Parts: sequence; structure tokens; C-alpha cells
Amino acid sequence: METIIEPFKIKMTEPIKFTSRQQRENIIKEAHFNLFQVAAENVTIDLLTDSGTSAMSSEQWASMLRADESYAGSASWYHLKNIIGNMTGMPNILPTHQGRASERILFSLIGGKDKIIPNNNHFDTTRANIEFTGAKAVDLVVDQAYEPDQAFPFKGNLDPQKLKSLIREVGAEHIPLCMITITNNSIGGQPVSLSNIKEIKDICQKHNIPLFIDAARFAENAYFIKQREKEYAHLSVGEIVRQIFDLTDGATISAKKDGLVNTGGLLLLRDNELAKRAINLLILTEGFTTYGGLTGRDLEAMAEGFLEAVNEDYLRYRIRSVDYLAEKLLRANIPIVRPTGGHAVYIDAKSFCPHISPNLFPGQAIVCALYRVAGVRATELGSVMFGKDGGDLSQKNCHHPSHKMELVRLAIPRRVYTQSHIDYVVEALIEIYKDRDKLKGLRIIEEPSILRHFSLKFAEV
Ligand code: F0G
Repeated sequence: METIIEPFKIKMTEPIKFTSRQQRENIIKEAHFNLFQVAAENVTIDLLTDSGTSAMSSEQWASMLRADESYAGSASWYHLKNIIGNMTGMPNILPTHQGRASERILFSLIGGKDKIIPNNNHFDTTRANIEFTGAKAVDLVVDQAYEPDQAFPFKGNLDPQKLKSLIREVGAEHIPLCMITITNNSIGGQPVSLSNIKEIKDICQKHNIPLFIDAARFAENAYFIKQREKEYAHLSVGEIVRQIFDLTDGATISAKKDGLVNTGGLLLLRDNELAKRAINLLILTEGFTTYGGLTGRDLEAMAEGFLEAVNEDYLRYRIRSVDYLAEKLLRANIPIVRPTGGHAVYIDAKSFCPHISPNLFPGQAIVCALYRVAGVRATELGSVMFGKDGGDLSQKNCHHPSHKMELVRLAIPRRVYTQSHIDYVVEALIEIYKDRDKLKGLRIIEEPSILRHFSLKFAEV
């Protein structure tokens, strides 16, 4: 059979609220055109993020009832630790409440002034946690990543030449670790090849630089390796995952993505001395080493979630369902990043509305239109999310340094929406695309100093 179907049935449902166009006009104005400020109950289809929004399986819910809530040494902790240990081979496993908590602990220990952390592309929280310590976060992704219509299979790769130049330029002693984000969220959920990870590992090893991965979407990345990298097609996803982790000295993991849970994270460390120092910080702010700010229920849901994440029937459905949305948009000539990423479809806002310049945020204009037309919530990944704070706000239209790409991300929560939900999103986008000349840019009227996209206020130009 050619049709790839959901490898699950629906046991429980959650109602969706419908709003009128007039209601949505009022809501978006009250939210100052920032969709993070809109109450979720006023959203019909929520594609803001794939993070923490997964539907859990009956097995996950059942495991939560079996959970052990002991403060120290709970059975649920040992269950999770064994599963992650077997999957990754990492000797030190620290639980945290989400990915950025792992980032904060790691970079508090190895960051600081005069330090430089390279990555293919840092996600916003990673960059913020690095820069908060005074260190500098540098993006070294391959150039193909910045050509949205070029269907290169591993656009997430870290460019080995760029890494070598950086090491030559600043000296290995200023690079406490090198990171690779799999999949590469910021430039389109694009995968990193296993041969690229091997090549980067060789360079790092030569200069004594530890290699870490941001493994939020490790299972989707491993599935792409199996599909697109011939020499690894014979391996199971589980075996590919193990090969990836064997090449690394540690990982920060947000379990809210491929971990298929609503909250949770991990910090994995190979170095025992670094682990001891990390445990001190963990206990200070997250909790004891056998729960890290999570309940026993959370730990059980994570244990089962990580097992389900590498199931190949699930991954086939997952990757195909995202590609289904991409195919329909391409058929309508809507410009998107190609090839399709793992967890989301990314609209190329520069091509979608070339009449809006990057400093008037074309991606945000599309995000607002999607909400107005259909109550669909998406995220801008461009000059709003990655631009720096904007200078003198008393000047209208002050310039905000723009990101290399202006993208709108339609992130697909795992196991949540059906094909007809996606068809509805496609219909809305086609309608907006037909009238794209009418879209208006936005300017910032109020801006916080870090992770500004969450609470920025805009006005329409
Ligand atoms: N790394 C990557 C690649 C991410 O995409 C995220 C979160 C994090 C780290 C931080 O993890 O949220 O658990 O603290 N990404 C979400 C998103 C928020 O919408 O892409 P967290």
C-alpha cells in the first residue's frame, strides 16, 4: 500500500474553539500583533511549536499511573536512566525540566568572557544562554542552508571549512566546545548527515575540543540519515542514534520534541569531572539528581516517549505527514524551504511578500494574516526572532539588523492533527498568497532585552 497512515487510533479528543473574523481582528490588535500573547483557546489550529505539544500514547499515560514519586532514587528515575543509557551509551545522565535548563547548566560551567561556541545554528535559547555568560555564539552552517529553494539533502550540516577557519582565527583554547544541532531548527528543521558529524568530530578531536549535540530532534534526524545517506540505510534508526551519540562528548536534550512529552529535558555528559560540577548546579536550581525538577510521572512519560520516538512506523508517518503539507503548498507555488524539514514546514517570507523589507518583518506579516484568515497560529523565524535589540525606539522604523532568512514556521505537533486539519491550513495559505500584495509590514513599539520575540509589541505600518 502506498498510503502512509497514522500508526495509532484516537482514544480521547479535545475540542477546538472557532472564532469569527471580527473576533480575531480584535484579539490580534489586543495582542499587539504578537501571537505569543494570544490565549491558546482563541487559536483554531496551533502550529506555534512542536515543543511540549505532543499527544501522549495510552502507554505513556499508563506509565504515569505506575510512577514512583520518591524524592531520592525513585524507580521511575532508574527506568528512564536505563533507557537513555542503553540508547546513547552516555555515562552521566542528568534530568532537567526542559532543554534550556540543560543549556544553562552547561554554559554556566564552560562559557564566560573570551569564549566562543560554534554550532551549525544555535537555537534562540542556546544562543541566549551562551551570551548570558559573556561568551559568543557563532553559526557555521553550510552555505546551501541559506538558499531556500535548493533541495540539498543535508542543509543542516556544519561547514568543516568554516570550523577550521574559526579555530585558526581564535585559537582552540577559546573554544570550550563545539555544538551541532540535530535537526537544525533555525534554518528549516534540516538534518545533519552522519558523515558530517564524523568529519566535525575529527576536526574537534585534533584540537582537543569536545563535541556536543543539541539533540532535541535526534530521532527525526536519524530517520533522515537512514533515508538520505545510502551508506547507513541498512542500519536501524536506533543503531544510527547510537552512532551519533558515540561520536559526542555530551548533549543537551529538550524532551519536549522527539521525547514525546509535555515537559522534560536531559543533560548528557561523558566527562565525570564536568558531571560532578553540573550536578552541583542541578541541585541548586532544578532538583536532586534523580528527578531534576520533574515528577516521577514526568520521568515515566519520558522513558516511554523516547522508546516510541525511535519506532520506525511512527517516524515514517511523522516525516510523511509534514511532507504532505509541504507538497500541497508547493503545488500552489507558495515558496517554502526545500527539502521539507522534520518537524515543520517553513515558508520563505522574502519570496512570499517581496514588497515588505526585512526591517518591517515580512514573516510576522504572514503570521498575522494566517491568524486573521483562519485562526491558525504560526511562528516567525527571521528578523523578529533572531534580530538583535533595536537601538533607538523613539525613531519610527529604526533599523533592526535582519536575519539571513525571513521564515515562517508551521510546526506540526506530534500525533495531534489529522489530514483535514492540515488541508484547512493549506486553504488559508492559498487565500493569503492570492492577496499577498495587500499584506502590511510591522514596526516594533516595545521591546524587552532578551528573547524579545515572546513579548515584543508591534504596530502595523
Ligand atoms: N534546542 C532546540 C533545537 C530547540 O528547538 C529548542 C526549543 C531548545 C533547544 C530549547 O528547549 O524549549 O525545552 O527549553 N525549541 C522550541 C521551538 C521552543 O519552538 O522550536 P526547551
